[in-house]
Amino acid sequence: MNREDFKMLENDYIYFDNGATTFKPNCVLEAIQNYYTKYTANAHRGDYDYSLKVDFLYEEARNLLKDFINAKKAKEIIFTCGSTYSLNQIIFGFFKDYLKSGDEVLITKAEHASNILPWFEMSDKIVVNYIPLESDYSLSLESLKKSVTDKTKVISIAHITNVVGDVRDIKQIIEFAHRKNILVVVDGAQSVPHMRIDVQDLDIDFLTFSAHKMLGPTGIGVLYAKEEFLNNMKPLIFGGGMNASFVSDGTRRYKDIPYLFEAGTQNIEGVIGFGEAIKYLNKIGMDKIEAYEQSLKAYALQRLKEIPDIIIYNEHTKSGIITFNMKDVFAQDLAVYLNKYHICVRAGNHCAKILKEEIGIKNTCRISFYFYNTKKEIDRLVEVLKNPHLKNELF
Ligand code: ALA
Repeated sequence: MNREDFKMLENDYIYFDNGATTFKPNCVLEAIQNYYTKYTANAHRGDYDYSLKVDFLYEEARNLLKDFINAKKAKEIIFTCGSTYSLNQIIFGFFKDYLKSGDEVLITKAEHASNILPWFEMSDKIVVNYIPLESDYSLSLESLKKSVTDKTKVISIAHITNVVGDVRDIKQIIEFAHRKNILVVVDGAQSVPHMRIDVQDLDIDFLTFSAHKMLGPTGIGVLYAKEEFLNNMKPLIFGGGMNASFVSDGTRRYKDIPYLFEAGTQNIEGVIGFGEAIKYLNKIGMDKIEAYEQSLKAYALQRLKEIPDIIIYNEHTKSGIITFNMKDVFAQDLAVYLNKYHICVRAGNHCAKILKEEIGIKNTCRISFYFYNTKKEIDRLVEVLKNPHLKNELF
């Protein structure tokens, strides 16, 4: 779909690493270039035309994001430098005060480092517990229910995990959690780019995602939280743009959300580029993107199974992620081999370093699709993996 909009797709490479980052359509590149060639100015500081134009586009992007995830208010959209920062801001800016000594956070061993390490950093005060995964590495509501105790105050999980691509039933999980007065943090880095998300319908308390995984620039992302939680969150960064006034005795007044969390000159070209990416995604339609990726995955699974030595770890999952190994081949060697044929996949532990305790294997290869991938590309991958000399061509 829409391949002509991506300069990177003119190169002689097959890119199957969209879970790591995505290509950018020309309209996003043009929007960034226009900012630097037609109206460079800081945001929220000037009274001249360039600056007013920047202010307009910056807040337009916030509104586009609000509608994209169906937040109630634009001020619930905070621009950050990405999902990792958003999670840190939520955990240290909100939960550090909210949680009492001995309270528990529930996560899973399939979480990304960004949703584990900040919680570990608080483990002198709180307890980090793991919800056991099922034998297919999915998260069941039954297992989650059994893991909850009177001390559980927050569940912090990916909507779609980045290694096995397990799509969690966030709606059911949140309904259950809220009945028990448990808050839910949703890491949406791998879901928001690929499916329609309605934070009001799902009743999400906190959601994080990054622009670069959804056609936007790097270094920009979103922290969404319900207004009541943002109003009780402390910023981690202080400076210009977030204060209303301060005097020499230290008395200061800070701005309201969202500006409270956007100190300093922001990643303006990032925000503008992100806004353009959202317009582009809206034009295609998230339902269409999700359905197309599922059809690609079904086709890829069917074709990959023709390869006798292939081990697929996540056949059942509904996302566009396929995690696999070839029997007796080290994952990274396979990725290097595929690169020789200009096919990009990710190999390793994918920043989910404790998943190996569940999956029993440390390194895997991962294919992650986006809507610009094609069945023809999958055919080429299968052809290269079927090479009878594959093992001889490794190091
Ligand atoms: N978190 C990104 C991935 O899964 C980088 O590849």
